[in-house]
Amino acid sequence: MKVDVLLGLQWGDEGKGKIVDVLTNNYDIIARFQGGPNAGHTLEFDGIKHVLHTIPSGIFHKGIINLIGNGVVIDPVIFENEIKSINKLNLEISELYISKKAHLILPTHKLLDAASEHAKGKHKIGSTLKGIGPTYMDKTGRNGLRVGDLNAKDFKEKYNKLKNKHIQLLKFYDFNYKLEELEQDWFNSLETLKDFKHIDSEHFIHKSIKEGKKILAEGAQGTLLDIDFGSYPFVTSSNTITAGACTGLGVAPNQISDVFGIFKAYCTRVGSGPFPTELDDEIGKHLGKVGNEFGATTGRARRCGWIDLPALKYAININGVTQLMMMKSDVLSGIDKIKVCTHYLNNNNEIDYLPFEDNNNLKPVYKELKGWKMNLMSIKGLSEAPKEVHDYIKYLENELQIPIKIISVGPDRKQTFFR
Ligand code: GDP
Ligand code: IMO
Ligand code: MG
Repeated sequence: MKVDVLLGLQWGDEGKGKIVDVLTNNYDIIARFQGGPNAGHTLEFDGIKHVLHTIPSGIFHKGIINLIGNGVVIDPVIFENEIKSINKLNLEISELYISKKAHLILPTHKLLDAASEHAKGKHKIGSTLKGIGPTYMDKTGRNGLRVGDLNAKDFKEKYNKLKNKHIQLLKFYDFNYKLEELEQDWFNSLETLKDFKHIDSEHFIHKSIKEGKKILAEGAQGTLLDIDFGSYPFVTSSNTITAGACTGLGVAPNQISDVFGIFKAYCTRVGSGPFPTELDDEIGKHLGKVGNEFGATTGRARRCGWIDLPALKYAININGVTQLMMMKSDVLSGIDKIKVCTHYLNNNNEIDYLPFEDNNNLKPVYKELKGWKMNLMSIKGLSEAPKEVHDYIKYLENELQIPIKIISVGPDRKQTFFR
């Protein structure tokens, strides 16, 4: 048995949470490998809608193990709130383990995130302001605090050392802040974090693989937000790609089996940065409204546009995708002509990749496909879907050369069809 990886192929919010929840019954362990509470993964079942930020999306299935891997960064306050809101649901949940090597987001990391964004003015990244960038900076700068440090005698000393460094850095910015209250909440919430099992997660993963356990690695964000391969600098600060599952869990590359690549039937982006197929018109507004495109973490309106094949092909190559999953197909219902970007014009030259240089002036070139009227949300199987839906799927499969194995037609677990 090996490790499967599920991740987003666009700019995040593809519907990863929903599909991890749907697939969890096939696995023994669900493991998050990167990102932190910048993620918002939505699950819907039995009339319950729930958003997870740090906790893996397998949590609502009893009898399996959810793991927060070493590649994840944890804000103890947000983590505590997540635990509280899960407990309120009064459902049976699965076990949750946390890697000792996962890094902690300090209150001052959040302040640095806000100060840095503020200083960037109109060039801001559009960060979720959860402290992600500064925390990963301290990780790679070898200054970070980790979950395994929580019980160390000198934890407070280490904390103060890092905090004082951050206070010096904050002086660089013209930024007012209040720290005491944030700090108090942070220290209080550590008690909840300490209640969970802190493990050497890479050893746990290796042992589980040897025992034949089935593991699903759950990605956060999306490929086009990857720190190396995304639309830098408008990206997040981790490797959101398959390789991130190797470093974020300690899984060797030859232990990766299937890679499930999730994409929306159109495209969205929240935050700043290039988006070649963005629609600044009535159709863009329509997609946002019908698709309820508001960030699950920040509530910000997501920018909407047509599906972008060059970007998807790039994401498929970077990740080694073996199966595709198309989400939010229902949202395209009622649009007469659906457009698919096949390539771009860059200074009148045709190109089929995102160039290093300024992506803001790329002009997308589209192929038009016939749309459909039927509302797909209530269909009971794909055979009920109109011919145009099948044509759209087949066209994409032919272009992308990877089978589309799941079609999603609504937010609920049940609105999911396997092909
Ligand atoms: P994630 O970050 O990739 O887990 O995705 P989010 O939860 O941030 O955003 C996806 C949104 O779309 C959530 O509100 C989901 O409930 C919703 N969703 C997922 N799949 C579908 C679908 O097939 N149709 C519709 N209409 N909504 C969906
Ligand atoms: P999920 O897992 C969509 C975006 C932010 C911003 C950029 C950097 O729910 O798909 P950061 O907070 O990391 O400094 O923000 O990345 N971003 C996301 N967009 N979905 C996410 O996660 C995101 N996580 C970060 O909007 O543009
Ligand atoms: Mg999300």
